[in-house]
Amino acid sequence: MTKTLGIVTSGGDAPGMNAAIRAVTRVAYAKGFCVLGFERGWDGLLTNQFRKLTPRNVGGIIQQGGTILRTLRCPGFEDPGGVKRAAETLAANDVEALVVIGGDGSFRGALDLSSKSGVSTVGIPATIDNDVFGTDETIGFDTAVNTAVGTIDKIRDTAISHERVFIVEVMGRKRGFLALEVGICVGAEVILIPEKPWSLDQVIRIMEENNQKGKRAGIIVAAEGIGDINLLAKEMQGQTESEVRLSTLGYAQRGGSPTARSRFLASLFAEKAVEVICNDENNKAIGLQDGKIVSLPLIDAATKRKDIDLQLVNLAGILAT
Ligand code: F6P
Repeated sequence: MTKTLGIVTSGGDAPGMNAAIRAVTRVAYAKGFCVLGFERGWDGLLTNQFRKLTPRNVGGIIQQGGTILRTLRCPGFEDPGGVKRAAETLAANDVEALVVIGGDGSFRGALDLSSKSGVSTVGIPATIDNDVFGTDETIGFDTAVNTAVGTIDKIRDTAISHERVFIVEVMGRKRGFLALEVGICVGAEVILIPEKPWSLDQVIRIMEENNQKGKRAGIIVAAEGIGDINLLAKEMQGQTESEVRLSTLGYAQRGGSPTARSRFLASLFAEKAVEVICNDENNKAIGLQDGKIVSLPLIDAATKRKDIDLQLVNLAGILAT
């Protein structure tokens, strides 16, 4: 009998999710699976809504941002009744393995579901935050970095013309991976991330030193996780002679056509996910570690905290002198 594999995209969307859907479908078909794509994240499993995915109907999506399956943050899934209903959906459709494309929250949902349904789950890390343990990079991160860098380069043009200081808020939830990489790539004068303590005095001192060096414009890249950015802008404006402006990049960082890098990673992660399923390995996450595609226990990817390289903040400081 043909085995059935399910795919679900869950949590915040990330550019490259479609590339992953396409690649999982095509690799799984090549191995003899039938593939079902559940609609709107976990909601599709609660309401038994899915579409059959085939190598042909996943054509033409590799370059599209978002997810053709749609996604949701689905509170209903967290209660035991929700997980039980999802398990029934999987059983009713003979789904033997489920590929979950999303972040650590989605992986925790997958573990719950697996314990109730006995269905093996595989997590493919996809989030612009790059905050999933066990992988050096998540699908979508590179695209979000490039989107933010492109926008901040434009902001720098106007910052220079007006000799203004711009605080630019980037996403990343509670972590600073996105802000750190973006900050280095735009040559930010200051990078503020939740993982590294900072003070207003310190930021003002750096900007004043720059002023004395004749560098009157500046970019401060701030992760959304550092707290109230409006207050920071207000306080800075009150304590410095520079004109301070705030720009929040927002959801544009999550959209757009995935970069070649995000597509490539999605394709390789997908191949590994199907391999893990074919080997009957239960509850694994896929990751990139030191240039190699690996699998690791899903529970680790779902619950462990990923380290951030704080040396990069020091490097950014040196590069911005
Ligand atoms: O996890 C991706 C992300 O874009 C975070 O960077 C951000 O904090 C969050 O999602 C926003 O979530 P929502 O789409 O629920 O507003």
